[in-house]
Amino acid sequence: MTTIELPVLQPEPANEHTSTNDGGHAVYVETYGCQMNLNDTEIVQAIMARHGFRLADSVADADVVLLNTCAVRDNAERKIHERLKHLRSWRKRKPEMVVGVLGCMAERLRRSLLGEQDLVDLVVGPDEYRRLPELVERAFAGEQGIAVKLSRVETYDDITPIRTQGISAWISIMRGCDKFCTFCVVPFTRGRERSRPLESIVREAAQLWDDGFREVTLLGQNVNSYRDPNGQGDFADLLAAVAQAVPQMRIRYTTSHPYDMSDKLIETMAAYANICPYIHLPVQSGSDRILQLMNRHYTVAHYLERIEKIRSTIPRCALSTDIIVGFCTETDEDHRKTLELMETVRYDGAYMFKYSPRENTKAWKMGDDVPEEVKAQRLEEVIQLQQQISWEINQTEIGKTFEVLVEGPSKRDPAQWQGRTDTNKVVIFPHLGTDQSYIVGDYVQVRIERATSATLFGTVVPG
Ligand code: 5AD
Ligand code: SF4
Repeated sequence: MTTIELPVLQPEPANEHTSTNDGGHAVYVETYGCQMNLNDTEIVQAIMARHGFRLADSVADADVVLLNTCAVRDNAERKIHERLKHLRSWRKRKPEMVVGVLGCMAERLRRSLLGEQDLVDLVVGPDEYRRLPELVERAFAGEQGIAVKLSRVETYDDITPIRTQGISAWISIMRGCDKFCTFCVVPFTRGRERSRPLESIVREAAQLWDDGFREVTLLGQNVNSYRDPNGQGDFADLLAAVAQAVPQMRIRYTTSHPYDMSDKLIETMAAYANICPYIHLPVQSGSDRILQLMNRHYTVAHYLERIEKIRSTIPRCALSTDIIVGFCTETDEDHRKTLELMETVRYDGAYMFKYSPRENTKAWKMGDDVPEEVKAQRLEEVIQLQQQISWEINQTEIGKTFEVLVEGPSKRDPAQWQGRTDTNKVVIFPHLGTDQSYIVGDYVQVRIERATSATLFGTVVPG
């Protein structure tokens, strides 16, 4: 191991990118997992840019490759491991290339990642990104680096993320999670809950509007636990403050926990036209027994009562959820209750997963007794049911006209445009003639003509 003298880094002025090393090394960050990770990547890019690193578009152009990782399920970790092995071949061609693992997998696996021959030089957890430039410099000098301390205060509040795409931006309003659902590794990889000051979030949203963004998503593992550290209120107060500060901006948020989805929050959503009528409300299971084993703190009856309150207060509100099948001890009867709940709520969309045991969680000790084939069968059933429900709901949109925020060319067919309704549905529609064309970030009225379970298709009607 080499030891090198490091310059003492001066504290950086807030909200400013300073580049001390123009034309320096290029860094490429690859992101896995949730929206929180996508926003963390933007924060990492800002930290690196402040320290003179250039941002590369691909591994081929990079001197430093950082994988911002997810540890929530085993298959995510396996995929990242495969990617690291693939990067070994790059390292053979470019021996000076530095490879680092960031995020939840770094926090979970720590030193074991450094132990594997020629795999990684750096392991940096979600609360230690400020140390990245220093650790990368050390890695260039041949030293392996690890920084995985979790913080009770770090929110990266003074760092303006480098946002590189589109008209849609994320703001992380809080970090960590104190819920300790028994299946979930996040409280261990992201640490304790802490919130950013309300005023700085509102300021960032206003700046985003000035910079041309038209949609902002407020992010947290459990946004309902948001509390302004200066006593300026809870999540509903924050949402109202942002809605007032940027009245033309579409405002979304994720993720809510059903236990503390308050009347006040639902009523705040209804009170502002620019807060999108869309809620992601993970239910996980339709069985009270399983919910209790998962430490979710609510019953199916409570959940359905919250859905009722949402629908009576915001009639147009779209809903999505997360579902885990095959949690330990889940019986056919428990599974049937999940399917029943899906039929009762009729979600617009759902993210559905097989239970994946994670070391150190409480559920890990409960065992993983549902056979893989049973999990696969149950997953197939929930997917089929959800597709059918989404398709049926989307058929009822045919003939209606929606205000659509134009996002850009459709990924499948660049000859068409893609946008979204405020209820978060993807809409595809043809270009108009050049004299009537519109640009990314415009609102257009689109009349829906046909629909699949995932997408609406229509044509623009003159506004
Ligand atoms: N296995 C399967 N799914 C999980 N999730 C979290 N932990 C696990 C796990 N161990 C799912 C939950 C959560 C979403 C983000 O990921 O449904 O809401
Ligand atoms: Fe994990 Fe539960 Fe926290 Fe969500 S609320 S991050 S599922 S512990």
